[in-house]
Amino acid sequence: MHPRTALLGGLGAAAAAGGAFLAVAATNGEAPQPVPFSHAHHAGVLGIDCRHCHYLAERSAWAGVPAMETCMGCHYPVVARPRVEPLRWRRTVALQGFAYFDHSIHLAAGVGCSTCHGRVDRMDRVVSPQRMTMRWCLDCHRDPSPHLRPPGAVADMDWVPSAEQDRLGRQRMRARGIDPDRLTHCHACHR
Ligand code: HEC
Ligand code: HEC
Ligand code: HEC
Ligand code: HEC
Ligand code: HEC
Repeated sequence: MHPRTALLGGLGAAAAAGGAFLAVAATNGEAPQPVPFSHAHHAGVLGIDCRHCHYLAERSAWAGVPAMETCMGCHYPVVARPRVEPLRWRRTVALQGFAYFDHSIHLAAGVGCSTCHGRVDRMDRVVSPQRMTMRWCLDCHRDPSPHLRPPGAVADMDWVPSAEQDRLGRQRMRARGIDPDRLTHCHACHR
């Protein structure tokens, strides 16, 4: 099926109804998303880069979820784009307590999406591979060197450390002046 027709059931109907987006419930999870969007299909099968949709991740604290325009670029012809209500995606990955997190800092340092979010390219519904607890953050902050990738590999879902990772990771830490003492200080995450 052409990707345009794929979404028409949902988006077209909403446009035709001229207002509120008609829920096309995904039944393969507890809380339904407004559209049964699959990462396994888009990021896995189709191979669309994470940053095509989460383009804020490299420049801001937030990765963000894409606006309808990003979907429509593929799913609807530019000329006949209807005015659609934004989809209200349910959040599935979020910190419980109050702590400061910033995507761009981590990506610039070479920590990859899959290190924190797992193999999203194989997930129909995004589920976090671990609870994002303070302990989990600190486990890495005490020694991030095993997780630091070369620039350009942050969205690579297949990245695995080479035999050289020990040396390369430490080299990357020195080059960026990454200091575990500072990263484990309460103030780093509680501001
Ligand atoms: C075609 C667009 C698109 C691509 C490509 C994409 N995403 Fe997403 N992503 C979304 C949408 C839409 C949502 C919100 C719906 C959902 O949770 O499935 C989302 C949600 C997420 C969430 C959960 C956010 C939350 O709190 O609910 C994570 C984590 C995520 N994406 C990571 C990734 C990673 C990692 C990649 C690359 C492997 C990726 N995404 C590729 C569109 C995309
Ligand atoms: C880079 C192009 C591209 C982008 C961006 C994109 N899609 Fe898709 N999408 C596709 C293609 C190609 C298919 C596969 C169509 C098929 O095989 O039937 C697809 C399939 C789908 C399907 C499955 C339809 C079905 O019949 O099972 C849904 C739902 C969907 N997309 C929703 C979205 C949403 C929501 C967004 C925005 C968050 C989005 N897509 C962004 C290209 C894209
Ligand atoms: C160092 C760990 C880490 C890395 C690396 C990381 N994330 Fe996240 N991500 C998180 C945490 C923690 C949250 C929850 C933030 C919150 O609730 O304040 C999150 C939330 C998200 C969300 C939900 C929306 C938002 O902005 O909060 C999306 C989408 C997402 N991440 C996508 C990505 C993508 C795509 C990449 C790679 C380009 C990536 N993340 C890299 C830890 C990470
Ligand atoms: C897999 C490793 C990893 C995980 C997991 C991780 N971080 Fe980080 N974090 C880093 C690295 C590496 C840096 C240093 C980046 C730099 O200085 O270039 C960093 C830096 C930060 C900074 C900036 C600190 C400063 O003062 O410069 C904050 C804030 C932060 N992390 C919060 C968090 C939180 C909150 C979590 C858990 C939800 C988390 N991180 C999980 C590796 C990680
Ligand atoms: C690397 C980031 C990071 C550092 C450093 C850090 N924390 Fe946290 N902290 C978190 C995150 C993330 C949470 C929220 C956990 C969750 O959502 O389950 C949290 C939660 C908490 C809470 C609330 C507990 C709760 O039940 O919600 C307290 C209190 C706290 N931290 C104190 C501290 C103190 C004291 C220090 C310094 C010794 C510290 N934190 C250092 C990331 C950090």
